[in-house]
Amino acid sequence: MQRLRVGVVGVGHLGKEHARIVATLPEAELVGVVDANGAQAEAVAQRCGTQAYRDPRALLSRVDAVVVAVPTVHHRAVAADFLRQGIPLLIEKPMAVTVRQADELLELAERHRTFLQVGHIERFNPAFEQLQKRPMQPKYISCERYSGFSGRSTDIGVVLDLMIHDLDLVLTLVRAPLRSVEALGAAVLGGNEDLAQARLTFANGCVADLRASRVHPTPARHMHLFGPEGFTGVDFARRRLTVMRPNEHLRQNPLDAAMLASLKTDLFTRHIHVEEIDCDTAPRDQLTCELQDFLRAVRTGQSPRVDGAAGRAALAVASRILDAVHAPASLPMAA
Ligand SMILES: NC(=O)c1ccc[n+]([C@@H]2O[C@H](COP(=O)([O-])OP(=O)(O)OC[C@H]3O[C@@H](n4cnc5c(N)ncnc54)[C@H](O)[C@@H]3O)[C@@H](O)[C@H]2O)c1
Repeated sequence: MQRLRVGVVGVGHLGKEHARIVATLPEAELVGVVDANGAQAEAVAQRCGTQAYRDPRALLSRVDAVVVAVPTVHHRAVAADFLRQGIPLLIEKPMAVTVRQADELLELAERHRTFLQVGHIERFNPAFEQLQKRPMQPKYISCERYSGFSGRSTDIGVVLDLMIHDLDLVLTLVRAPLRSVEALGAAVLGGNEDLAQARLTFANGCVADLRASRVHPTPARHMHLFGPEGFTGVDFARRRLTVMRPNEHLRQNPLDAAMLASLKTDLFTRHIHVEEIDCDTAPRDQLTCELQDFLRAVRTGQSPRVDGAAGRAALAVASRILDAVHAPASLPMAA
């Protein structure tokens, strides 16, 4: 099998991990890394046994595929050069800063007969993969994504930095049009919001509440789902699922006195089945799975798991949330 020639543009915190993994994949050859910071490019190239460049255009004639992991404000400019040459991209999340930029990239990809994958890495979390194997019609979803302050991604706020992960996951689970968005947020350390809360209401009645903070003392990544089938909790950091399912008898019958008495003593032993599932058994890490999905899509021409349309959809909801966050507070109308 001929190896695909891959380059990585932006080898900072995340890009250096992309480069490290690409250099180990048998189906790829890491032909170069690019960083505007020449010393950083050199250091990563040396570790990965490849060439260092400072200008992304140096890769244009050398690659079959590229990973773009520069700060989000530069995604559009860097990605456009490669798409114009018909080179497929794995572009980090969020796909771009605005929906307009995302549309430009999608249009370029289509015009030049290539594609974009977007780095929504939680789709490859084994706990989320397990969740998707259990059909559910959620009526309510709650997501929390909290981190300490990393000092990175200050070009964007917490909605595009962290909440975008959960927006992509919620849109994957709820296949219904979005009816309304309510949100608020606050900037703590700079100009962009560091805390945000949003409520999405879908046309099928499902409601999703999302909370994100990047100035939180205790990191956490959780999702809870409620539906007629029961309750499911996802811990993305520990890669665990908690599934609680009421039995058929409980679901089908009204509560009488005998049942009420039994529920008090035997709720979780007889009536609700509780399953704790450890999903942290996958042989490969999420970033490797994401990169392998990208290389498979390049090789076969089949869609990647997270295509450009999915990246754009998450960004479109994020933009509505940001509009609500930045809307002037509504004041009571004067009499
Ligand atoms: N999928 C995830 O979970 C995840 C996690 C972290 C970051 N990200 C995303 O990855 C991207 C990079 O984030 P990071 O934390 O690695 O940032 P970073 O600041 O650590 O690294 C970015 C690197 O890009 C370089 N750079 C900047 N402009 C460039 C240009 N025009 N050409 C070449 N190099 C350039 C910088 O010198 C730096 O080394 C962002 O879009 C971010 O949102 C995704």
